[in-house]
Amino acid sequence: MPANSPLGTSDDSAGGRAPAIDIGISGEDRKQVADGLSHFLADAYTLYLKTHNFHWNVTGPMFNALHVMFEAQYTEQWAALDETAERIRALGFNAPGSYAEFTRLSSITEEPGLGDTADWREMVRQLTVGNEAVCRTARKVLKVADGAGDDPTVDLLTQRLQVHEKYAWMLRSLLQ
Ligand SMILES: [Fe+2]
Repeated sequence: MPANSPLGTSDDSAGGRAPAIDIGISGEDRKQVADGLSHFLADAYTLYLKTHNFHWNVTGPMFNALHVMFEAQYTEQWAALDETAERIRALGFNAPGSYAEFTRLSSITEEPGLGDTADWREMVRQLTVGNEAVCRTARKVLKVADGAGDDPTVDLLTQRLQVHEKYAWMLRSLLQ
């Protein structure tokens, strides 16, 4: 097969047996959406881990309410991470799956080394702004996906926006 044949230019590594991806979205658009989703996945994973961290380490009079609330949120977030990563794969690209990649791609900073003086209000504040950061990234990527006619990604991000905006409201309400 000539190297410039359409069948010979796919970047598959299965000895030419896997067909090139042709789902009605150009390769350039698929890459732009997948890159955006990788940033979204990094934000969502970092927020997931921080929520689980605070579930473990929260103290004070609000312990039981926050321990349970954080568990409900991180459990739901964990399942959604898989949907996002698999959407990146369906678009033809590798999903980031290491702490080094997530640290590089995320707009949310971690909170390592919580001391005994960790304040539940500061945890709730960080999770509020973390959920808002996830929403801002989702909105940016949603626009890219919409421009590419990528309805499944638009649908996925619309659902995630509903959830993370709700979490931000619930957490913010604790501080009012
Ligand atoms: Fe637990």
